[in-house]
Amino acid sequence: MHVHIIGSALAFSATASAGVLGRAYNTTSSDCGSITSVPTPTLTGSCPLVSSASAAYLSAKPTAAAAVVPAGLATACLKSVPLDPENDVGLIDHLLPLVQLQSTLAYLKNPPEEYLEILSRNLQFQDPDADYNTVFSTVAGDVSIGDAFNRVLENMAIVNAKFDGIVNGELLHQVYELPQPPSTTTTTPTQSATATSTTSPAPEPTVPGYPYPVVKHFDDYVAGYFLNDTAYADTAVLVALSFESSAPGKNLTADFFEFRRVVSTFLDACREAGKTKLVIDLSGNGGGSVIEGFELYKQLFPSGEPWDGIRDFFGPNEFNGDEFTSLLRRNFSEPGGFGSSTAMTVVTGYGDVPARPEQPFAVEDIVVVTDGVCASTCTIFAGLLARQEGVRTIAMGGRPISSPMQAIGGVKGAEVLKFDDFIPWVVGLADQNDGLAPLGLPFPDTATPPILGSGGSFNWKNAYAGDDETSTPLQFVYEAANCKRFFTAENVFDVRTVWQDAADVAWGEGLCVFGSTTTDDGSIAADVLQYNADVRPAVVFPAVPGSPGTETTRYGSNCTSSSVHKKRSAGAVPKTFTAVETDIQPEWINLPSNRFGTS
Ligand SMILES: *[C@@H]1O[C@H](CO)[C@@H](O)[C@H](O)[C@H]1NC(C)=O
Ligand SMILES: *[C@@H]1O[C@H](CO)[C@@H](O)[C@H](O)[C@H]1NC(C)=O
Ligand SMILES: *[C@@H]1O[C@H](CO)[C@@H](O)[C@H](O)[C@H]1NC(C)=O
Ligand SMILES: *[C@@H]1O[C@H](CO)[C@@H](O)[C@H](O)[C@H]1NC(C)=O
Ligand SMILES: *[C@@H]1O[C@H](CO)[C@@H](O)[C@H](O)[C@H]1NC(C)=O
Repeated sequence: MHVHIIGSALAFSATASAGVLGRAYNTTSSDCGSITSVPTPTLTGSCPLVSSASAAYLSAKPTAAAAVVPAGLATACLKSVPLDPENDVGLIDHLLPLVQLQSTLAYLKNPPEEYLEILSRNLQFQDPDADYNTVFSTVAGDVSIGDAFNRVLENMAIVNAKFDGIVNGELLHQVYELPQPPSTTTTTPTQSATATSTTSPAPEPTVPGYPYPVVKHFDDYVAGYFLNDTAYADTAVLVALSFESSAPGKNLTADFFEFRRVVSTFLDACREAGKTKLVIDLSGNGGGSVIEGFELYKQLFPSGEPWDGIRDFFGPNEFNGDEFTSLLRRNFSEPGGFGSSTAMTVVTGYGDVPARPEQPFAVEDIVVVTDGVCASTCTIFAGLLARQEGVRTIAMGGRPISSPMQAIGGVKGAEVLKFDDFIPWVVGLADQNDGLAPLGLPFPDTATPPILGSGGSFNWKNAYAGDDETSTPLQFVYEAANCKRFFTAENVFDVRTVWQDAADVAWGEGLCVFGSTTTDDGSIAADVLQYNADVRPAVVFPAVPGSPGTETTRYGSNCTSSSVHKKRSAGAVPKTFTAVETDIQPEWINLPSNRFGTS
């Protein structure tokens, strides 16, 4: 069983609602209005099976946050959900203005040359080697499951909703996809009913699949280790599987303070035990709270000034045919600068939080190891170490080619925003401004979407390298690791051997894949190789609905958003942002700060 959580290649994960997947289209129909579901008799019986399988799972594991059922069963149930063309197309109309907020649209439209081909793979990560690694089971990737050495890999589906009484696909559509009138919501099954669990089990002493730690986070995602083997007596290992707890109902403030405690306790322990070398393992790290990335950086580099320049909307600068703000920096001394009203705190070393008295490890005594699966906040942290401080990076695994690999293979956006969080901001602004948006722009539709989904999010802050004169968002920049190493069988079964191998490469005789370093003998160097066409993905994926060049008629429909949705949108406020000539200068607006920025 292998589940990955991380955001999509664009940091834009479109709503994947159950009803949108796997619908049966009537390909003989020429009239949009008559497109109907084609019920497949063998599939209609599957929802009750999902219901009973979920109930059985939850009764066997009462503390589980959600039931897990065979993927085939879940797919069959989803396929029995009837098509609802009117609302489905309405959802597309609803999403379009939100999708347009993605801050890299101009670069997606006119990308640097390393990029369309990569995008065409349509997989989770920016980098093909990171994608390649996600196909395999790894200790870091399996922690989210908690059953690290289960050798039977079975496709499973997580049931994120209460399934009692869901006897067919039509009911699934009614209950979970269509917005409920307020009066009926109390009688429908709700997700919180399954997630409610007031007693949390006592924390385990170890992270599943990992050795005994020196110290670990109560939610397991960050931990420090010492290597026992005498050959590595000087080496400490810090593992960050994420930068945010994945526990349901987590308290982000408590989560952050625990993260800070684990890191500082571990660095104190390293000093007391005389550790002089540090391996930082970021394998499988899909990001999290941005503040934690900066916190870890500042604890490792107390006198460093973290570069965090970002750009977003509006102008006055024009790059690549779009408008961007000047570089924006955070005021790290300002309490709550990470958008939190729950924790008016600052990163260690700013405001009233004293810096560590000394830098715990020299730059050359730190090495970062990843499996390429490092996205969002992980890229902020790894980028500060690699780009700003010159810490060397080792990328593990990847495709079987003698070429370099990126250690930071996930999206390098500086912050994502959920549609669900964004819409209340728009509503709040409209209320404050008598319905007039700043700059006289129309407000987007803030109504409940016609089809409910699991939500979506967009990247709204582009990150840039500190020395980048061309102002290309970092996710369009290729950055090879200093070294690539293939996994050995030992590495897969015992994560300690990954750390030992990384230490051997960084400070011993260990070698890298030939062609992945700037040296002739495969030893790691301080500099990295430049982009080379050899690292392009060679696999050609078949076209899927929505691929560039796909003929829409293939799916039997000339149904465009406008043809089906005429009725709903007649007389409504335009739903897209339109550029308006104006002399009004953008003003700073205080956005509600009720959360930590997440990336
Ligand atoms: C598909 O549409 C055609 C033309 O409207 C109709 O004759 C046929 O019955 C439909 N098939 C199904 C399975 O709904
Ligand atoms: C779609 O529209 C085109 C042009 O009007 C027409 O030739 C084609 O037959 C239509 N396709 C379907 C499936 O109705
Ligand atoms: C070190 O040895 C102890 C005692 O045998 C063991 O519990 C722990 O997991 C080991 N740690 C590592 C990192 O190997
Ligand atoms: C969250 O944790 C913080 C820090 O421990 C605490 O002060 C706060 O009361 C907690 N909030 C809730 C809602 O429990
Ligand atoms: C940053 O925030 C601190 C604390 O609020 C404030 O004293 C300082 O003036 C701010 N710096 C800038 C450049 O605004």
